[in-house]
Amino acid sequence: MTSTQYVPQQPTATEAPTPAPEPQKERAGVSRRGLLGAAGAGLAGLAAGAAGGFALGSADTAPAPQASGTRTYPFYGAHQAGILTPVQDRLHFAAFDVITNSRAELVQLLKDWTAAAARMTLGLGAGEIGPTSGSYAAPPDDTGEAIGLPPAGLTITFGFGPTLFRKDGKSRFGLANRQPDALQRLPHFPADKLNPQKSDGDLCIQACADDPQVAVHAVRNLARIAFGRASLRWSQLGFGRTSSTSTSQATPRNLMGFKDGTMNLKAEDPAAVDEHVWVPPGADSKGRWLAGGSYLVVRRINMTIEIWDRQPLSEQERIIGRTKAEGAPLTGGSEFSQPDFVLKGSDGEPLMATDAHVRMVHPSNNGGAKMLRRGYNFVDGSDGLGRMDAGLFFLAFVRDPRTHFIPIQMKLGLGDGLSEYLQHTGSALFAIPPGIAQGEYVGQALFA
Ligand code: HEM
Repeated sequence: MTSTQYVPQQPTATEAPTPAPEPQKERAGVSRRGLLGAAGAGLAGLAAGAAGGFALGSADTAPAPQASGTRTYPFYGAHQAGILTPVQDRLHFAAFDVITNSRAELVQLLKDWTAAAARMTLGLGAGEIGPTSGSYAAPPDDTGEAIGLPPAGLTITFGFGPTLFRKDGKSRFGLANRQPDALQRLPHFPADKLNPQKSDGDLCIQACADDPQVAVHAVRNLARIAFGRASLRWSQLGFGRTSSTSTSQATPRNLMGFKDGTMNLKAEDPAAVDEHVWVPPGADSKGRWLAGGSYLVVRRINMTIEIWDRQPLSEQERIIGRTKAEGAPLTGGSEFSQPDFVLKGSDGEPLMATDAHVRMVHPSNNGGAKMLRRGYNFVDGSDGLGRMDAGLFFLAFVRDPRTHFIPIQMKLGLGDGLSEYLQHTGSALFAIPPGIAQGEYVGQALFA
């Protein structure tokens, strides 16, 4: 009853081989504390010696080896994980308000979040003691719902909103002179119908995993750790990725039934990623700390699904500019062919409508700007009138929202055929600090 099972595992960006179950060990022999002591401060030891799933300190459940769930991605590196990482299937996104006025407490929160995130992405508990091993008289340092679950490819990506630096015109935490010029609240776009309770935030966490419970567990524990320092402002669950960030992934479909992510930036094209995703050194004198990071544009976009579903297939394809079956441009070819915006039909009209989504957002019509989209489908119940509260939780990483998002969205709001079926109900912009080195905490350069 008090035994744990160890499933050796290395953090790797590829699928770990299915581990052979090892004999169970007595908890008394290898406590979580004991193992941490042996591993020292660095998590490298943990990575090499720890188990997949909640092997440590989670007494009662031996994790069943699951080939698809044992995948892990490195937490430390030049860039944060969860950007170029092949998009996982599930999302829990959360935005926080910082409720302390103390810079030291904010820094300590970021340190605590970094330590917990590094552990959880390895499939370990959020704290060093574990969900069932600590004092009987104290709340556990992990909430426990991921006991027995493997890491499931969890990535945790942190971001800083404009209001972390300045709120109501006043500097916060002494950071106003370090706020990058590009980090401003997104403007009001035509036809926006934003819900303030699903918008903005001082901090954000994007948790992605192939198991929804693993993603929720991550955000829940980080929210618990933040108690007294930051409080959850809003959050969003996403199921079903709506893009690919690697050529190894098949193109998924959004809730309009179309392939989404075909022309997305892919990790296998590092030159394009460098050009369009990472903030270059010297981009902004106040934002030097952000070099190697990115900006995350967040838009909660509701679809009027019931109206869309009554449109003929021909109209649906005209609005997107691609075929529904294969996702090929209406101007011919196959899924990955480039559209031809000049080609005309026998009626003299362009084969790709002038207000087709794909025409409007194509880089050739937007000064060459590309973005790394990483969005998810969502359904948040229904409204009691037979309409689903559903749509696309749009997430895009860009090097500068002023060139790579704002003008494009302005154009879409005014003239995209698709916008008739959309309503933007949430909005936020975050600066995504560069990757974290072992022994550092997320955003450390901002506070240096
Ligand atoms: C619910 C809203 C949206 C839906 C259903 C949607 C759907 C699609 C579809 C089906 C494609 C074609 C496949 C592909 O290349 O990925 C596409 C492409 C694209 N979309 Fe959207 N989209 C939405 C919102 C947006 C927004 C808000 C933006 C940015 C402002 C955007 C930017 C793009 C870009 C940049 C492409 C790739 C264009 C290319 O390089 O050819 N989309 N979208």
